[in-house]
Amino acid sequence: MTDPSAPDNTPGAVQPPPGCPAHADAVPLSGLEYQQTPSELYRALRREHGAVAPVLLEGGIPAWLVLGYAEVSYVTSHDELFARDSRRWNQWPNIPDDWPLLPFVGYQPSVLFTEGAEHQRRAGVISEALEGVDQFELAHRCRRIADQLIDRFAGSGEAELMSAYAHALPMRAAVEMCGMPAEGTDTDDLVEDLRMSLDASEGDDPVAAYVRVQERIQQLVKDKRATPGPDVTSRMLTHPAGLSDEEVVQDLISVIAAAQQPTGNWIGNTLRLLLTDDRFALNVSGGRVSVGQALNEVLWLDTPTQNFIGRWAVRDTQLGGRQIKAGDCLVLGLAAANTDPQLWPDGYVGAEGNSAHLSFSNGEHRCPYPAPHLADVIARAAVENLLERLPDIVLAVEPEELTWRPSIWMRGLTALPVSFTPVMQ
Ligand code: HEM
Repeated sequence: MTDPSAPDNTPGAVQPPPGCPAHADAVPLSGLEYQQTPSELYRALRREHGAVAPVLLEGGIPAWLVLGYAEVSYVTSHDELFARDSRRWNQWPNIPDDWPLLPFVGYQPSVLFTEGAEHQRRAGVISEALEGVDQFELAHRCRRIADQLIDRFAGSGEAELMSAYAHALPMRAAVEMCGMPAEGTDTDDLVEDLRMSLDASEGDDPVAAYVRVQERIQQLVKDKRATPGPDVTSRMLTHPAGLSDEEVVQDLISVIAAAQQPTGNWIGNTLRLLLTDDRFALNVSGGRVSVGQALNEVLWLDTPTQNFIGRWAVRDTQLGGRQIKAGDCLVLGLAAANTDPQLWPDGYVGAEGNSAHLSFSNGEHRCPYPAPHLADVIARAAVENLLERLPDIVLAVEPEELTWRPSIWMRGLTALPVSFTPVMQ
């Protein structure tokens, strides 16, 4: 494991300004070793720096990683001190145009970056539109999508589940929830362009794919304006808050993107737990209770949105004994907070039925009600259906050979190869 306090020597890395005492011993947040075992990084950081650690983002840009459960809860429930509009960041003069984190922190006029009354208006519309989703119908739809995806590989006796199943299912569920037809090339093309723009493989052009996603969502909004239906898009358009078409397009893209990556990785991380941990092996086939336990355990110990960027300090303040300057960036260490030793002094001991984790964040900007319930419906249907259809499914590699994606932000597997008895159809 590399020394977490070593300076970032990657070419082009910007070092913290000389004489900036707060970041003199800052820890670079990149490095593959950490991505395989982030819990070790969080433990080391807590030991050396306490609940709020000075860190360096890509290219040596300073920020604070908030690791404590109490501190993340405090930051997320004090919008007047720690707000969401990234334009107040004091590091913008040091951020190059091609900075890799720009897509996540660059201001966009969507719900994600709004604050105060404007945020309540935009998030309120999303919440009410999502509340109109019938959870039984959604579960039914997810089982249909699951069956279609499984049919594609069931006869072969093997599959790579991350791309063929875990990511594909919530993406299709989300676009159908927004009113795209279940069948048809328009839906297929949108799903493919979303995949390319959110998670490009070699040879993909994510920028061109994103432009096509915008065009398709614009068309969807136009169609639903003309002929509303029982879907999220139509409910957003007819909401009394009176969002413009452009606002609905922005927020629909935010909803679909916010739904897809974390739910896909939640499914993948849960399948990994079920397929590798002996505690679940006995009950896997048809064991609904154990699927629920595995889903919840993943949110505590292997949450998809490990770290979330972020909040920006409105004025000079203090947090966890640190002097935070106006415009400083705070990264919400959601995974670290969930395993905070203050919460679990003897280590995590299982938390069946306890959903007080911070995996959906907290406060005004948390994952909006009822999105976590919808995500649970999607993830549960995905996991249960797979185990019901392929009851003798096993990992096709040794558990130690599974690798995590090289990202400090999203915790998900690069691949989940499995094998099973081929099913003749
Ligand atoms: C149906 C699935 C989902 C939908 C529709 C959804 C939707 C959203 C939306 C619209 C936001 C932006 C809220 C705002 O800025 O006011 C958001 C934020 C967020 N969501 Fe979700 N989400 C889903 C699933 C998930 C899952 C599975 C996780 C993780 C386990 C997750 C974790 C988060 C987090 C951490 C935030 C950031 C909150 C913050 O800024 O503090 N979401 N989600």
